[in-house]
Amino acid sequence: MVFSKISTFFFFISFALFLSGCSSEENSSVIPSQKVDTNISQDTNETIPKPVELVFASKIALGKALFHDRSLSLTRKQSCASCHDPLHAFIDNNDNGVNSAVSLGDDGLSLGDRNAPTLTYAAYIPSFFLDKNNTYVGGQFFDGRASDLEQQAKAPFLNNLEMQMPNIVSVVQRVKENQDYVLAMKKFFDVNIFDEDELAFSAVANAIAEFERLPSFASFDSKVDLYTPENEGLSAQELQGQDLFVKLDCVSCHLDLETDISRPLFTNFEYENLGVPINQEVRALNKKSNVFIDHGLLDNPNITDPLQDGRFKVPTLRNIAVTGPYMHNGVFKELKTVIHFYNTRDVEGAINPETQAPWAKAEVNTTMLRDLRIGSLDMTNSEEDALVAYLRALTDERYTNLLP
Ligand code: HEC
Ligand code: HEC
Repeated sequence: MVFSKISTFFFFISFALFLSGCSSEENSSVIPSQKVDTNISQDTNETIPKPVELVFASKIALGKALFHDRSLSLTRKQSCASCHDPLHAFIDNNDNGVNSAVSLGDDGLSLGDRNAPTLTYAAYIPSFFLDKNNTYVGGQFFDGRASDLEQQAKAPFLNNLEMQMPNIVSVVQRVKENQDYVLAMKKFFDVNIFDEDELAFSAVANAIAEFERLPSFASFDSKVDLYTPENEGLSAQELQGQDLFVKLDCVSCHLDLETDISRPLFTNFEYENLGVPINQEVRALNKKSNVFIDHGLLDNPNITDPLQDGRFKVPTLRNIAVTGPYMHNGVFKELKTVIHFYNTRDVEGAINPETQAPWAKAEVNTTMLRDLRIGSLDMTNSEEDALVAYLRALTDERYTNLLP
């Protein structure tokens, strides 16, 4: 299984070389390639334009405005963009008193327990399903509890650690405050869209999801994407890292063979328990009781199988070097630490360089993966550096300015 994946990865590399020169706009199957409004960085909250005619040219433009609109949270201080900043690959770059590990809610006080993931390439995450090998795949959130982008987009409005709105009716009421939204919703959905709050709320979620499906969220233009031996776009060190990425079986989880192999997403969208420790710094502040455990996939209301305990969705590694801190709880600040964790988790006497103490134990020990040599990879320090260099080369062109 693993071997066939490795050879397929080599195939992908040569196939990508063969394809290089093709425009990446042409084969985006998931993402509609509308030419409208691809500037996704602008905060539209400041300048609500005067209503005369339709202000929003498309459902996507409406979705973009909703994504940036802070008046859709309880105290009007928080939008989706507050925790998914377009200028920072859609992560929460605020320190929040916890080195950006988790986010603050609209009240400026409530601290979450999970790290806000990048929304780049999120449109490619398949809907949650159980595959033929009885493996759970896909879904939004680290535990897949929202099947798709539409279902996901409804959650933050009502989450009491996030935008903190009391109910659907109150969200729709806020939407109705803006005449331009009302006109656009009627035009792009249904003239009677506001007859039922549920329908209007779903339309809001759909517009936001359409925005998140814009091609500019997934530009496939990192150094790794653009590399050919002729253009020498990857350094010797980065190529060594790519080699290690295959040899050390990173590809068995961070490569998806089911979708378009010429444009890998660096995740198979499955769920695994790597034995990531609790983020004690966060838990000391976010008022979770000291017996609280993040059960990952088992927290998904559709899942009761104890074998799923402590598993988290394999995240994409695209833009990874600019989306730290790492893991579902942001427990590791540096990319090198993540690699060192894979390298030495199970090695007697190994030290977490960030705490100068031995690796803390897994939050959920029973299901921790003890396979694929994870935890004891025998890498040298310079091999770790090469792997980091390769991961840095997975940064989309427009975020390379953020590289530390
Ligand atoms: C207070 C911060 C915060 C706000 C506001 C927020 N998010 Fe998130 N977002 C998060 C966190 C944290 C997660 C991960 C939570 C989890 O996995 O349980 C997340 C996860 C997601 C995901 C899943 C990505 C993946 O890889 O699984 C998407 C999509 C998303 N958010 C979109 C949105 C949208 C759209 C909005 C506005 C309606 C929004 N978020 C508002 C913090 C926030
Ligand atoms: C068995 C599947 C599996 C293998 C093999 C694997 N990973 Fe992962 N990887 C995961 C999962 C699952 C997570 C998320 C864990 C969490 O948040 O608790 C992850 C997280 C990461 C992250 C942090 C992502 C983020 O957004 O915070 C990096 C970097 C990473 N892996 C790189 C690698 C490298 C390099 C290798 C090879 C040495 C590798 N992985 C091998 C499953 C795997």
